[in-house]
Amino acid sequence: MNYFEKLRKKVIQKNAIICIIGLGYVGSGLLKSFHSRGFKTIGIDIDAEKIKRKFIKKNLILTKNYQNINIADIIIIALPTPLTKNLSPDLSFLRKSLKLMSPYLKKGQLISLESSTYPGTTEEIIGSFLKKKHFNLSKDFFLVYSPERISPELKIKKSKKIKYNLNNTPKICAGYSNKCLKLGKEIYNFVTTDVVQAPNLKTAETSKMVENVFRSINIALVNELKMFLNKINIDIDEVLNLAGTKPFGFTKFSPGPGYGGHCIPLDPFYLYWLAKKNKFDLKFVKTSGLINRKITSWISNKIINFIVKNKIKLFKKKVLILGMAYKKDIDDTRESPGLIIANKLKKEGYDFEYSDPHVNKINFNGLIKKSKKLTTSLFSRFQVVIIVTDHSTFNYKLISEKSKYLFDCRNSVNNRKKNYFKL
Ligand SMILES: NC(=O)c1ccc[n+]([C@@H]2O[C@H](COP(=O)([O-])OP(=O)(O)OC[C@H]3O[C@@H](n4cnc5c(N)ncnc54)[C@H](O)[C@@H]3O)[C@@H](O)[C@H]2O)c1
Repeated sequence: MNYFEKLRKKVIQKNAIICIIGLGYVGSGLLKSFHSRGFKTIGIDIDAEKIKRKFIKKNLILTKNYQNINIADIIIIALPTPLTKNLSPDLSFLRKSLKLMSPYLKKGQLISLESSTYPGTTEEIIGSFLKKKHFNLSKDFFLVYSPERISPELKIKKSKKIKYNLNNTPKICAGYSNKCLKLGKEIYNFVTTDVVQAPNLKTAETSKMVENVFRSINIALVNELKMFLNKINIDIDEVLNLAGTKPFGFTKFSPGPGYGGHCIPLDPFYLYWLAKKNKFDLKFVKTSGLINRKITSWISNKIINFIVKNKIKLFKKKVLILGMAYKKDIDDTRESPGLIIANKLKKEGYDFEYSDPHVNKINFNGLIKKSKKLTTSLFSRFQVVIIVTDHSTFNYKLISEKSKYLFDCRNSVNNRKKNYFKL
């Protein structure tokens, strides 16, 4: 039997050992899914905390040690793909990880990349690295790209919305060759009901970029309209509610305080960077990223100007921020507008406290701040309250009744007029 057939047999018979590298939001879910389908699994993360927090089970190794890769058959990479300071792709996590796994790679293994990245990465970075190690791709080593699509919507079990997870979201899969693709499909078929075959690696990589660019552009559109319509006293939410009654040809996006997370704020710049490298100016994509950053400053400035203009006396110069997670009902604070607004306020000499049912504490420029419980007495200490994230479990009646000046970035309070400002 050749390497392809051997690996295929191992996968089909669930004898393949699956190793997930990077146990963050994406990697953790993959690890759990493969493990619960009966695969022997290994989870590798350089952060000891991430390992400690995981479940301990039979047939599961959790480790910092890359040496375990030498017993793995399938290596799935779910590492961060951030931006550098000048908004170009930072693939240092991927490069470092390849270096660490290098001594333990062997013939007959498969690597699948799940991280979001610009078209060409899988082949240029991982493919070239494997070739340099004298593997013969698709003969004795296999390479796949399968972008993760999970939505980090957590926890709130009562939600009536369909919950999309790894299992019920179609999963795109591309291979370096047909053999690689075949193996990829066999593997992911165990954890998802619908594996969608991509024609090649680059097309799959681009599709992930486009999914996030689509969101970035539509969010930017309603946020830019919000800034303009605010100026001429037209309520953007009322406009969108009307437009949203059109049953075709219109998809309603809601304006907000900006965006966050590890995907939408970053991916458009990955594609923009690649376009620039190819001497193409992807203006629309870049502009969306810039507008979605601008909206957060616009909101901070509006609030600061209001405080100054109306000579509002703040107790200890503090405002109260409601919601630190970047979106509703999740605990993820990466690139969160709440943190950006807090920073902006700090720069202008103000301070803040926050309340978030899903974020117990934050590290704010080296200072640990804990979430405050929303009580009547809490409101008595703050003149200015800002709703940044519209968590379902916030008590909006209490917020509306007890906030002296209320700034609402999510259109989440609808029965108050006095000293209420939709931003
Ligand atoms: N979070 C999401 O909802 C989401 C959705 C779709 C796609 N993605 C993409 O998936 C990728 C991973 O995202 P994430 O949200 O899981 O990131 P994350 O930051 O939550 O997790 C990454 C993990 O990798 C670990 N790590 C860093 N360097 C390492 C190394 N050398 N070896 C082993 N572990 C290492 C970190 O400690 C961390 O635990 C990104 O490319 C992201 O764009 C994320």
